[in-house]
Amino acid sequence: MNGDLILGIESSCDDTAVAVVDRGGQVLASGVARQDDIHARWGGVWPELASRAHVRAIIPAIDQAMKDASASPDRLAAIAVTRGPGLIGSLLVGLNAASALAIAWDVPVIGVNHLRGHLRSADLEGARVTFPATILLVSGGHTFLAHMADRRNVRVLGATRDDSVGEAYDKVARLMGMGFPGGPLIDRLAKEGRPVIDLPRPMIREGLEFSFSGLKSAVARTLERSPATDHADLAASFVDVVIDVLVTKCRRALDTVPGRSLVVVGGVAASPQLRHSMGELASDAGVELCLPPLKWSTDNGAMIALAGWDYLDAGIRPLPAATPRLPVTEM
Ligand code: KG4
Ligand code: ZN
Repeated sequence: MNGDLILGIESSCDDTAVAVVDRGGQVLASGVARQDDIHARWGGVWPELASRAHVRAIIPAIDQAMKDASASPDRLAAIAVTRGPGLIGSLLVGLNAASALAIAWDVPVIGVNHLRGHLRSADLEGARVTFPATILLVSGGHTFLAHMADRRNVRVLGATRDDSVGEAYDKVARLMGMGFPGGPLIDRLAKEGRPVIDLPRPMIREGLEFSFSGLKSAVARTLERSPATDHADLAASFVDVVIDVLVTKCRRALDTVPGRSLVVVGGVAASPQLRHSMGELASDAGVELCLPPLKWSTDNGAMIALAGWDYLDAGIRPLPAATPRLPVTEM
């Protein structure tokens, strides 16, 4: 195989992200063109506006990443690009750019599963994950627990039946008239409040599945019934419930299917409260905690590039075709 670098392109939702990564997971260049300002007024991602913003951002982002990495196309072993899951219009922008460049530069193109990217994000800029691993993926689009025997084999232990955790953060932020994405805003507000408001802890007593839509509705009801409710206390109570549910389920997963490490990835893994609580759980349970550095928790091109190396090693090269629904069990 020629080339010592992979160009990773991610455009599955609202971030246009591009990075250049070597085989060891070192990131030579990475850029993310965010769309927060575009979506803030809606409190969520507006698909058509997201696609248009990707169209504007994608070529300059690729150009910049290649320049920042001082990389010429002949150093690329492949271009790895997210093929799904995600918004079809957003996916198509990254996939078309990657496919065109692959022809122009005569480089292989690999359609990568976005979720596989998140799973590998904890090994960026330093290998951390030891297998077998218990994984909690908490993002805007997904929430599940999985067991990984090795880099390739993923078994889902339990997923959300309705909303993802990130969605719950975003919806609660919207209910309180805050911006988007809601996660970091809620985290900050929660630090100023006390968890004194009683909210349901959905499905906490049993199993490894999750449900967060009832929690979101409970926050909405609280605000309807008592409009004067202190927002900081409500945010603190919401975060307290979310962390309690996630930690309880992770503990149960570690008891059910023992592993050597606990890996927490996805946008919500940027939450300082969650990182802290997972640290306590891991030391209690005697497993290693593997967290991606903060900047690799939310969507980025580097995780797609790193996953791309796994595909190359396994000789798997999915077509760069948009696949809006794609389970994590598939490469
Ligand atoms: O992984 P990600 O960047 O995109 C998806 O693949 O969905 O995750 C985005 C989600 C959003 O819902 C956002 O509110 C949440 O991650 N998020 C956070 C934090 N930073 C981002 N949630 C809690 N605390 C944070 N600091
Ligand atoms: Zn993501």
